[in-house]
Amino acid sequence: TIVWVPRDSSARAVGADEVAAALAQQPGVTVRRNGTRGMLWREPLVEVETPAGRVGYANVAPTDVPGLVSGGMLEGAPVGNSLGPVAEDPWLTAQHRVSCARLGLAEPTDIAAYRDAGGWAGLRRALDMDPADVVEEVVTSGLRGRGGAGFPTGIKWRTVLEAQADQKFVAGNLDEGDSGTFADRILAEGDPFTLLEGMAIAAVAIGATEGYLYVRSEYPDAIAILGEAISVATAEGYLGEDVLGSGRSFTVHVRRGAGAYICGEETSMLESIEGRRGEVRAKPPIPALSGLWGRPTVVNNVLTFAAVPAILTGGGETYAAAGDGRSRGTQVFQLAGNVARGGLVEADLGTDLRELVEGFGGGTRSGRPVRAVQVGGPLGAYLPAAGLDVAAGYETLAEAGGMLGHGGIVVFDDTFDAARMARFAMEFCAAESCGKCTPCRVGSTRGVETIDRIRVGPPAEREAALVLLEDLCTTMTSGSLCAMGGLTPMPVRSALKHFPEDFAPAGGGDA
Ligand code: NAI
Ligand code: SF4
Repeated sequence: TIVWVPRDSSARAVGADEVAAALAQQPGVTVRRNGTRGMLWREPLVEVETPAGRVGYANVAPTDVPGLVSGGMLEGAPVGNSLGPVAEDPWLTAQHRVSCARLGLAEPTDIAAYRDAGGWAGLRRALDMDPADVVEEVVTSGLRGRGGAGFPTGIKWRTVLEAQADQKFVAGNLDEGDSGTFADRILAEGDPFTLLEGMAIAAVAIGATEGYLYVRSEYPDAIAILGEAISVATAEGYLGEDVLGSGRSFTVHVRRGAGAYICGEETSMLESIEGRRGEVRAKPPIPALSGLWGRPTVVNNVLTFAAVPAILTGGGETYAAAGDGRSRGTQVFQLAGNVARGGLVEADLGTDLRELVEGFGGGTRSGRPVRAVQVGGPLGAYLPAAGLDVAAGYETLAEAGGMLGHGGIVVFDDTFDAARMARFAMEFCAAESCGKCTPCRVGSTRGVETIDRIRVGPPAEREAALVLLEDLCTTMTSGSLCAMGGLTPMPVRSALKHFPEDFAPAGGGDA
């Protein structure tokens, strides 16, 4: 009997390796290690291959294994925390998985399984096309940067294609520093070929021969799996000197970050890849014209690359059929924080935020009422529970005073203290600022002090401190060189706007 136990680090963190070892001791069991399906609250999620499909057992502990097996688990019996056939689970079937369609189905570096599931068809099609047509297919799809800024991917690629240079590069951003986000990691650990195929298609489209994947050091499993996937794909001719016999070469290198949030900003990342301190470069020039070593470079988040194979196989129009307004296609949302069903939800852009938080997420894990939701990482806005009836798309969230960012959604219950979180936003900026410009480097520290004066300072100074904080936020927004300093006011202002009562003197938690 084949039994699948995820090797994803979120599953390993809750004992998947021990469960795999316990299962391997059972007679007649062959354990295989897949990526996670994204149902993180159910990990370790064990799946047993049966004639009726793969039957799932959630939250299995090593000590549960003998009892589950004697109860008929290996035949798919409804013992323990059984889900029945995993592919029919409503939490999965309610999603629209495009970029994550193969997630959790196979061993991550099983290239034959990837090929059998339709993998590499997008790259093959791209190699048969004129590069400009590949770019136009991506333009047609309406795909926008999934790192958070939402710039149209096809337009970026067109800029690089049309640039004249002796060498061009493709750079994949897997620095994923946002709190509450983990989609890049899950994809890299569960289905690395999808993002490598996306990068290879970009290389074909713009004429690059070298690619760099920048992975944060906090993701050792992702780094190991990507390294293995690159070796396998190169040995099989999908990457390397002669991609699928086309005479074109595309070599991918992995570069490991060193724990700096700012290295997820594209120009800092390029500095870091080139071997320098991760400090933001002024734009212009944009990386599309002058990126790695001054050459035209496509820099995309790996989730953007992961959408590309499906766009090439299914066509840009099919991808664009999903979505809302100018936000086309699907978004890989991530539910985190105080949420009952945390995990990865790929759904159409424009899906209602309430549906994500309450439908997929099931409300809070604590069982208390939802009070706030932060969308888009630590620089995103805090939205109140009453404001969740908003379509989760680039423009719609911006109109609601927030941002989609990388699709991270962090849920808080009614113990949420907005003033404390506003202070944390400034603190985070002070810790992670690259230091290049004053509004961010100095402003963030002044911001912490000013919020403290509002929260715990003399009541007589409170009004003046509130005015000062507003002034400081304006300076940081308009005077910062990059999104780090420029967006830190977003969580602060949203906290003040939606939860003013938390800023009352002596209100809130400890400083
Ligand atoms: P940006 O708006 O400056 O640029 C977006 C992208 O478009 C960049 O790659 C830029 O080079 C490119 N671009 C701009 N004009 C272009 C043109 N005319 N032709 C071709 N390419 C062009 O935004 P930025 O600073 O790159 O990203 C900010 C966003 O990053 C924030 O809105 C936030 O959502 C997100 N973010 C994501 C994080 C994560 O962990 N994924 C962490 C922090 C922020
Ligand atoms: Fe560096 Fe902050 Fe300025 Fe960005 S805003 S360049 S992180 S100092």
